[in-house]
Amino acid sequence: MGSLWLDTAPRTERAQLAGDLQVDVAVLGGGVAGMTVALLLKRDGARVAVVEAAHVGGGVTGCTTAKVSALQATIYSTIRKRNGEQAAAAYGEASLAGVERLAALAAEQAIECGLERRAAYTYAAEDSERSAVEREAQAAAGAGLAVELVDAPDLPYAVHGAVRLGDQVQIHPVRYVQGLAAAVDGGGSQVFERTRALAVDEGSPCRVRTAHGDVRADHVVIATHYPFLDRGLYFARLKPQRSYCIAARLASGRPPRGMSISAGSPTRSVRSHGEFLIVGGEGHSTGSGKADRERFARLEAFARRHWDVEAITHRWSAQDPSPYDHLPVIGPYRPGSSRLWVTAGFMKWGFASATFAAMILADRIAGRDNPWAGVFGPTRLSLRSAHELAALGAKYAIDLVGDRIRPPRAPRAGAVPPGEARVVPDGLGKKGVYRDENGSLHAVSLRCTHMGCLVRFNAAERSWDCPCHGSRFAVDGSVLEGPAVQPLERREP
Ligand SMILES: Cc1cc2nc3c(=O)[nH]c(=O)nc-3n(C[C@H](O)[C@H](O)[C@H](O)COP(=O)(O)OP(=O)(O)OC[C@H]3O[C@@H](n4cnc5c(N)ncnc54)[C@H](O)[C@@H]3O)c2cc1C
Ligand code: FES
Repeated sequence: MGSLWLDTAPRTERAQLAGDLQVDVAVLGGGVAGMTVALLLKRDGARVAVVEAAHVGGGVTGCTTAKVSALQATIYSTIRKRNGEQAAAAYGEASLAGVERLAALAAEQAIECGLERRAAYTYAAEDSERSAVEREAQAAAGAGLAVELVDAPDLPYAVHGAVRLGDQVQIHPVRYVQGLAAAVDGGGSQVFERTRALAVDEGSPCRVRTAHGDVRADHVVIATHYPFLDRGLYFARLKPQRSYCIAARLASGRPPRGMSISAGSPTRSVRSHGEFLIVGGEGHSTGSGKADRERFARLEAFARRHWDVEAITHRWSAQDPSPYDHLPVIGPYRPGSSRLWVTAGFMKWGFASATFAAMILADRIAGRDNPWAGVFGPTRLSLRSAHELAALGAKYAIDLVGDRIRPPRAPRAGAVPPGEARVVPDGLGKKGVYRDENGSLHAVSLRCTHMGCLVRFNAAERSWDCPCHGSRFAVDGSVLEGPAVQPLERREP
């Protein structure tokens, strides 16, 4: 079974866009980023249209662990090293504000999302990680967080010290964003579902093109998780990382109250939701060929080793992009844009950061100053992280051509076993062939419709994933996740 969150919230069925529409702001994407900015803009008096390709909360927001915390593994030591103390302090102040704004929005809108105050911990699983925890405590304190070093979080296994931040929040993420969507609807604003934005013309007004009509708007916010416009600015800077989660019901004992994450590798992220224990980890780059069911098995073994697990009830995985310099990208979409905006790059901590991103964008669109805006501007260039930018560019070049010279992995479609996929010859080229459990074959072009990299099979999710910018496609070629907006070409099996 998939995500605990999508399984325990009814899917919303909102109207598809039907014809052209004119509003003040169009927000593309109905995850936590899009829905929060939409609501803040509506509160500023704007008429807002949210254009969501599938369903509100059905993207990464529905496949997360949903800890809303300003303490985020070892982010402050990383930001301090890459971007300096001022940037770490801005991230800390903004993240604390993001946590509190999310809690305030949930309270003001009376959203029943199981919001609970909890302590957050980053712990040393091994003695060798103790120094990382101490460094994080120092960096987080320097960034303004009221952290303390403690011997152990409330975990049933030995750890080698932890940094603790009290009074953070955990929620049911889908119920939270559905509550935001309900608050956006009405008074001239509307959330549309099953409406994919295909292109945006920046102008006065801007025009969002979809298959069901155009939305004209003074401002457009791209909150599609991975920005889907423009070849260059974002695609060279954001690296999607996949991670895996399981939920378990315990036969005896209770899941921990705190929200914990290990400082080192392998990552183990733990929280509770009611009686459920949730464990996350096993991350890797999207499309790296490392996606397999073993990752769930390792999380399951970890849970069974430390808790009295009665049943694993849910398994899910998702991805989030990490910017090359470890700061989210929030602000004008392109240099000089004053009507087109972006919010992305949350590094698996989007509940606090998408919320402060919404605060920044709402201020910018309303013409108000925002003290954090400069730090997160998308066109910044971090010299200290320039080597990471170069490495991402090189990785793209390798992924673009790399698989083209590898031999096919099955001689013909007939040799593909049920439930598996192979790359097979297709004239002078290659195609991807998947055989479903009923024996039917599904064949697609391996060329990603975004910028032409070759997709790879994800055996854990049964999808074709692109290593370049993280687009994902179902076995029939349809788009599961952008930045691609067009399906893979179908081929004869
Ligand atoms: C395994 C995992 C665990 C995580 N755990 C945590 C955690 O504990 N705490 C935390 O703070 N963060 C966590 N995160 C990160 C957090 O979940 C994300 O940062 C956040 O949900 C991203 O929200 P979003 O709105 O940007 O993206 P999404 O929720 O993906 O929303 C984007 C929406 O845009 C839509 N869309 C895409 N393209 C188009 C288009 N062309 N037109 C219209 N709509 C489009 C999609 O359908 C989608 O609904 C985790 C991430 C992962 C992968
Ligand atoms: S080439 Fe960009 S996601 Fe595939």
